[in-house]
Amino acid sequence: MGVNKIDHVVVPGTFDPVTYGHLDVIERAWRLFPKVTVGVAASLGKRGVGTTFSLDERVTMLRDALANEGIGDEIEVLPFQGLLVDFCRGIGARGVVKGLRAMTDFEYELQQSALNTRMAPEIESVYVMSASEYGFVSSSIVRELASFGSDMRFLVPPNVADALQAHYAR
Ligand code: PNS
Repeated sequence: MGVNKIDHVVVPGTFDPVTYGHLDVIERAWRLFPKVTVGVAASLGKRGVGTTFSLDERVTMLRDALANEGIGDEIEVLPFQGLLVDFCRGIGARGVVKGLRAMTDFEYELQQSALNTRMAPEIESVYVMSASEYGFVSSSIVRELASFGSDMRFLVPPNVADALQAHYAR
């Protein structure tokens, strides 16, 4: 275990697409730690199914959304392939910050953090509780609403809502 304070963390995810719930976690990580990198996983996410948006699209949507929030210059958004701990080591990050919405997230996150700690004990996993107004928000719920042509602008930033509408209008 290193003795230095953690000065750089990764907020990882599939971000298919980014929601206000994700942005809340990223902003809180940014308040807690000096440097935050958002890591966009190329992999297929926890359900093992493909993504709706390409890796490039997911990265661009995040960068635009953070710019829109006024913190685009301060938070780097990078894609990554393979293991999260390898990505963290590669960029010199020593922490991972994730959001917990409900007990249903807990079991999965407990397993992930145990595995990541086993593989990379120097990388700390930190969890923040989702803001209550975003406790029910997920990328899959947003995609479902958009696929039915429902309004989902209260759940995602404007650039993402536009991308979703364009995607499901095809
Ligand atoms: O937004 P998500 O889908 O909850 O994010 C999950 C993610 C990308 C953080 C997780 O699947 C991940 O860390 N993927 C990279 C591969 C990895 O390191 N898996 C854990 C050990 S098998």
